[in-house]
Amino acid sequence: MQKIIITGGAGFIGSHVVRRFVKTYPNYNIINLDKLTYAGNLENLRDIENEPNYRFIKGDIVDLEFINTLFDSEQPDAVIHLAAESHVDRSITNPLEFVMTNVVGTVNLLNAARENWKGKYDKTRFYHVSTDEVYGTLGEDGMFTEETAYDPHSPYSASKASSDHFVRAYQDTYGLNAVISNCSNNYGSFHFPEKLIPLAINNIKQNKPVPVYGKGENIRDWLWVEDHARAIDVIFHNAKAGQTYNIGGHNEWKNIDLINLLCTILDKKLGREAGESAKLITYVTDRAGHDLRYAIDAGKLKSELGWVPSITFEEGLEKTVDWYLANEEWLDNVTSGNYQQYYKGQYNNR
Ligand SMILES: NC(=O)c1ccc[n+]([C@@H]2O[C@H](COP(=O)([O-])OP(=O)(O)OC[C@H]3O[C@@H](n4cnc5c(N)ncnc54)[C@H](O)[C@@H]3O)[C@@H](O)[C@H]2O)c1
Repeated sequence: MQKIIITGGAGFIGSHVVRRFVKTYPNYNIINLDKLTYAGNLENLRDIENEPNYRFIKGDIVDLEFINTLFDSEQPDAVIHLAAESHVDRSITNPLEFVMTNVVGTVNLLNAARENWKGKYDKTRFYHVSTDEVYGTLGEDGMFTEETAYDPHSPYSASKASSDHFVRAYQDTYGLNAVISNCSNNYGSFHFPEKLIPLAINNIKQNKPVPVYGKGENIRDWLWVEDHARAIDVIFHNAKAGQTYNIGGHNEWKNIDLINLLCTILDKKLGREAGESAKLITYVTDRAGHDLRYAIDAGKLKSELGWVPSITFEEGLEKTVDWYLANEEWLDNVTSGNYQQYYKGQYNNR
């Protein structure tokens, strides 16, 4: 019986990880620890919220006393840490919030783990979920490997890089059993519509302008979120302590090409004339410090642990568009802010 605290489990990727673990491992106890910021949405987990091996606990990883008490009372065997402030634009406006959650919050969890797991580091695991953005930007060629030197450019990536360093420091200094994965951009269901793909789908659907930074030349390597959750599962169960794995889809797309593909898919699905949705594309001033290109070499994960993506980008994008079109209520609740009421209705007495 494993008791695992998954932090940030009400967010986009976290909800997929929670669902996967709850469904795949009925003999595990899964605790979803989440502060429910604007990005945390328990509606993402409606289908599993009554499973006997699942529990939600509302809490802030920046609150050291709360974290220590939680570790004392729950005695978890492992942490899978996804809680973070995750939106680069928000980090440019409010960097300190990113330092608090992404750096201080991570160190609080590491400290609690270090104290609670003394004498049993070989039987416990701290899994830190990170991003490829820590590596900075690429020119036209090359890929990020696990050996690439860190070179973050945004307050978001700097805070994630810092948290990665702390995780390694706790592994090296105290012998904590830690693993890290650095993943490329994710897409899929339950993605908060401030990020590129869900924002574009929502705006195209509503005939609103689709903002594209600069000339849309920035390149990202996209991975279907359920493939990321499966990679986390594989790494969590099989990686040796102290290892880092890059996770990516070998799937580079210029932002403008991706938006055009979405427009084509949505023209068909919404019964519009070919080219109609693309008229909504609106170029806006580029993001400050915008990294040009990210591309992940996930060869180590493939050769050592046998993980490869399960679907193509075209398949995944079509599934994603279908999901957003079929889940209007979810999207309306998120865009109107009503999703925040769900917690009150659902968990008022807990
Ligand atoms: N989205 C991506 O493409 C991507 C790619 C690679 C890595 N990552 C990493 O994966 C993780 C999850 O990303 P996401 O896109 O699902 O993020 P998200 O913003 O959708 O979700 C973050 C979750 O963390 C919770 N949270 C925030 N601050 C908290 C705090 N102080 N205490 C407790 N909970 C808190 C939020 O309520 C939310 O549920 C992050 O660590 C991110 O850096 C994301």
